[in-house]
Amino acid sequence: MELAERLSRLPPYLFVEINRKIAELRAQGKDVVNFGVGDPDLPTPSHIVERLCLAAHDPANHGYPETDGLPELRQAIAGWYHGRFGVELDPTKEVLPLIGSKEGIGHIALCFIDPGNLALIPDPGYPPYSLGTILAGGEPYFMPLREENDFLPDFETIPDEVADKAKLMWLNYPNNPTGAIADLEFFDKAVHFAQQHGLAICHDAPYTEVAFDGYRPPSFMQLPCARRIGVEFHSLSKTYNMTAWRIGMVVGNPDMVNALFRVKSNLDSGVPQAIQYAAAEGLRGSQEHVAERNAVFQRRRDRLVRVLSDMGLRCRIPRATFYVWAKTPQGYTSMDFAKTLLDELAIAVTPGTGYGEGGEGYIRFSLTIPDDRLQEGVNRLSSWRGRA
Ligand SMILES: Cc1ncc(COP(=O)(O)O)c(C=O)c1O
Repeated sequence: MELAERLSRLPPYLFVEINRKIAELRAQGKDVVNFGVGDPDLPTPSHIVERLCLAAHDPANHGYPETDGLPELRQAIAGWYHGRFGVELDPTKEVLPLIGSKEGIGHIALCFIDPGNLALIPDPGYPPYSLGTILAGGEPYFMPLREENDFLPDFETIPDEVADKAKLMWLNYPNNPTGAIADLEFFDKAVHFAQQHGLAICHDAPYTEVAFDGYRPPSFMQLPCARRIGVEFHSLSKTYNMTAWRIGMVVGNPDMVNALFRVKSNLDSGVPQAIQYAAAEGLRGSQEHVAERNAVFQRRRDRLVRVLSDMGLRCRIPRATFYVWAKTPQGYTSMDFAKTLLDELAIAVTPGTGYGEGGEGYIRFSLTIPDDRLQEGVNRLSSWRGRA
């Protein structure tokens, strides 16, 4: 048996070692507090689950789903974009449901990237941007996100010959893993740069509804010119604690949306219909629980940031996402420090290098663990004070 060459181009999975250590410690009976995983610990709101159950009982939803999404869901997505961002979308041409946004993020590379093509990708960044590019036969060109630039890419440092050769640029705000945010002025600069070099833009925005201190992150689609050259990926995973159900969407430029649909319709059969109905319920229903849930994350954020600052670990207080991106102490690489926390305190965090070389010097804490576990983690971290 001979596997395809492209598999050998995938980078090694950096979390393997940390995951193996966590399993080892647990097998020894150690109580590991895991700040590593970005998966909401809180449940999907009950009205959404009830709609899912109701639709699951209806035999009309037991067959193959409508691959391009139920009209009801497409309209709910367009209605939500209008209500939340003031953006008008044509639900028949500018909206496509996805089996979780990760699925569309991976597949869209097949629409733009031919062997040897470049895609501009943030570093650190969510791994599927580069992995999708590699699987399509392309090459990632990494745009560093540096703290001194507020974790925004500096377009001026990208050589013209690289930008001209690239087909696609990925952006992601609010940002995983750095927790950074971007405003419309930044998006405007990105569009200007993309237009100059004939690039399409994919903005990945699953965290716009996880925000604190009254901050309301914008959508890339709020820029009138955005839809001329770009799309936005969104997800119900983080907004409604729905990671299990696998549903997201892409909206924006109708040619890009249609290209992705052409790829998808040949590879998958769409989102199970019961889940589509549940998603429409979430988007149309009351959004009160989103604010309540964010208040929980904000309290957790404040508790964690306080202890990190007592330990001498520098971090920015994130205004969005449920991630805290902290500097490692002097003398530690990301991996060293993640291992030290695991060995000495049985605390698991994600080493920044899991998101690319640009993550060196940082670790990521996720706030998606129950309050009592977070408190246990905070207590252990405070006992480490002084050694940083
Ligand atoms: C930046 C980013 N984009 C996309 C996703 C994928 O979300 P989903 O596939 O659950 O919609 C994640 C999940 O962690 C993420 O952090």
